[in-house]
Amino acid sequence: MKIRIAALPIACALALMSVGAHGAINDKKAAEILTKGGCMACHTVDKKLVGPSFKEVAKKHKGDKKAPAGIAKKVRQGSSGAYGQIPMPPNPTSKINDADLKAVVDWVLSK
Ligand code: HEC
Repeated sequence: MKIRIAALPIACALALMSVGAHGAINDKKAAEILTKGGCMACHTVDKKLVGPSFKEVAKKHKGDKKAPAGIAKKVRQGSSGAYGQIPMPPNPTSKINDADLKAVVDWVLSK
């Protein structure tokens, strides 16, 4: 019994990770994560606000297979100078967890 309970969170984490790996979240799920994370205060899909539109981000990294890891790191730690003068502040795990961040980056790159 104990083992089964302990295995549950691992199974959930694996399920979430595989969702991220395939970029399989839909627009509704992405909007949920982005709203919860406070990202929508600065970003939209197709218009530049404070930060670049997600379409612009996708265009910039098109064809770069290593992009997702680098982008996730920038969102987590903050970024400046890539799109303009305004920096993106760091986004801690209390705003967006690792699995959600990975899934959202894949979703952004599919735009
Ligand atoms: C206070 C405004 C602000 C918030 C909040 C914010 N961003 Fe940003 N974001 C920016 C700015 C400004 C840039 C451009 C930074 C640069 O030029 O390097 C950016 C850049 C990005 C990029 C492109 C990174 C790259 O390497 O190409 C992604 C993806 C992104 N943000 C996603 C997110 C996500 C996901 C969240 C929520 C967890 C978020 N942002 C929250 C302002 C914000």
